[in-house]
Amino acid sequence: MAAKLIIGNWKSNKNTQEASIWIERFLEKATEVSENTEVVVAPAFTLLPSVVGVLEEVRNGKPSKTALEVVPEVVSELLPIKLATQDLSPFLAGSYTGAVSARNLENLRVEYALLGHSERRRYFHETHQDVARKVDQALLAGIKPVVCVDSEYIQVQASAIEDSQLKKCVIAYEPVEAIGTGRNVDVGQVKRIVDHIYNTFGKVKVLYGGSVTSDNVAEYTLVTDGVLVGGASLDPEEFLKICQRASGQQTQKSKL
Ligand code: PGA
Repeated sequence: MAAKLIIGNWKSNKNTQEASIWIERFLEKATEVSENTEVVVAPAFTLLPSVVGVLEEVRNGKPSKTALEVVPEVVSELLPIKLATQDLSPFLAGSYTGAVSARNLENLRVEYALLGHSERRRYFHETHQDVARKVDQALLAGIKPVVCVDSEYIQVQASAIEDSQLKKCVIAYEPVEAIGTGRNVDVGQVKRIVDHIYNTFGKVKVLYGGSVTSDNVAEYTLVTDGVLVGGASLDPEEFLKICQRASGQQTQKSKL
């Protein structure tokens, strides 16, 4: 069975100190997450250096706080967290004030980029073409694009991306009415849209996002390749539960 991909999108939350504490608290129990789960967090750009710093300290066996002091024997397994950005410049490095290019991200261990999130489309007026240009930049830099779509424009977003690039993307189905509302959508609907995405984009990983919590994640990962989690990823303990239940490790009723 392929690993479930679980991405935590912190959006514009947390300062550097809070981000470091989150990483340390998650790592304290990271060995409880199945190897069959790929865990990714997407902090704001400005938080990446401090998050990378904590991860490096752990890798080098020099944790700044509790993580390794509590469980020193799990050093080698304490780097199960991969990093994503929440956006990416549609341009190469250059005179684009305010944009964060792939060049700016070098050495920050970024493996994924969330692109075309509905909040980017809504508040920053991103178009399908903008998202396609960002996909291009991400792939040039060896960063895996996670393209967020809602049901009504899957086809048009796919047509804006070159055929050769489509199958290199992860697709996140994010119905806008479910984002941040607590109104997660019916799993049957998710299954129908996921099948539609496979038909449109080809052999890609498909995630569901929209009010995912530790109570509902297990039903979604039965019909998807993983989940994109917003609000519930802000608390490391809740996110850990989500990661555990995503691969069927824990049932809702079993105790942590
Ligand atoms: P939510 O956000 O989990 O808070 O609904 C999901 C998202 O925006 O990706």
